[in-house]
Amino acid sequence: MFEKHGVPVLAGAVATTPQEARAAAEQIGTKSGGVTVVKAQVKTGGRGKAGGVKVAKTADEAEQHAEAILGMDIKGHTVHKVMIAQGAQIAEEYYFSILLDRTNRSYLAMCSTEGGVEIEQLAEERPEALARVEVDPNVGIDDATAQRIVEQAGFDAETAPKVAEVLKSLWTVYAEEDATLVEVNPLVKTEDGTVLALDGKVTLDGNADFRQPEHAELEDKDAADPLEAKAKALGLNYVKLDGNVGIIGNGAGLVMSTLDVVAYAGEDQTGGASKPANFLDIGGGASAEVMANGLDVILNDEQVKSVFVNVFGGITSCDAVADGIVGALKTLGDEATKPLVVRLDGNNVEEGRRILAEFAHPLVSIEETMDGAASKAAELAAK
Ligand SMILES: Nc1ncnc2c1ncn2[C@@H]1O[C@H](COP(=O)(O)OP(=O)(O)O)[C@@H](O)[C@H]1O
Ligand SMILES: [Mg+2]
Repeated sequence: MFEKHGVPVLAGAVATTPQEARAAAEQIGTKSGGVTVVKAQVKTGGRGKAGGVKVAKTADEAEQHAEAILGMDIKGHTVHKVMIAQGAQIAEEYYFSILLDRTNRSYLAMCSTEGGVEIEQLAEERPEALARVEVDPNVGIDDATAQRIVEQAGFDAETAPKVAEVLKSLWTVYAEEDATLVEVNPLVKTEDGTVLALDGKVTLDGNADFRQPEHAELEDKDAADPLEAKAKALGLNYVKLDGNVGIIGNGAGLVMSTLDVVAYAGEDQTGGASKPANFLDIGGGASAEVMANGLDVILNDEQVKSVFVNVFGGITSCDAVADGIVGALKTLGDEATKPLVVRLDGNNVEEGRRILAEFAHPLVSIEETMDGAASKAAELAAK
């Protein structure tokens, strides 16, 4: 991605076995006196500290490092692939990032001549060493903005223009790829004075997926949660969490509040034994089918002990939601073993409650209020 937008990077190849790593090192090392770097390909930082980045002087060594790094666990991520990168003769390490600054409704560039280290630590201990420059979304990092950034960071006169050029290319990555974060740590100056991005971290905005078809290929399917993958395939807005109370609601705001009341109820009544197990928004015009799909995902989560369905009928009418619950339970039959606490309100609530009352499923209880339903769901999950 960096290469495509003109950001200078070193040659690299991905390997999944030590033998492949050796072959890649034999090729790539020719450009750097045989020296390569074997790097764990996991979506987390701090790989170097964890032993997941190792310099190899020969292809033999690259093979050995790959052997050691493949299969390693780095902060909960298993290493399935390594990158064999050309070795750089580093003279200096810098830091650069650009990110979405929600509070200021703008973008923020951060830059430091003291890179390579953990930037959170630098920001805390020596905040003056980290330049922070607002980037106008309508302008981006143009010559003037790049100039401002390198000046504030305090680069010397010889290095500043070289870094400024790279910052402009990194802005292109940010803007054209619809990113919400582009971070380079370290950005380096090599012994011969070239400025290069050695390590990159990019967060892509999922809301832009519709116009970034190539981004689908970047998804790490090995790392994806199977329930999240299933929910995605069903077109549901679902995020898995660690708790035991499954949650379904309509509208992101209502679902967020539902997570809060369940977390409070869990703290209050079960001493923290009950917590939300997921976020699931079935949306404004949720049909019976969508409700059934949502229940299907949540009931298949082994951690879930109870489910709280919280629907406010606006566009969705409560009878459609009730039909969805009845339909899902009928489909599941004996497989439905978890209690469901349902709170319905709004459009056609009487009919919705009547449908559920008539169905009279032993696992379903109807609650009038959101707080009441949260308490009940939390208690059921803790039992
Ligand atoms: N291609 C390379 N050549 C030489 N040194 C490298 C290379 N890639 C990384 N390093 C060194 O390893 C350190 C950690 O690697 P990095 O890619 O930043 O991983 P992480 O940030 O996850 O620890 C860098 O700060 C740099 O000093
Ligand atoms: Mg790094």
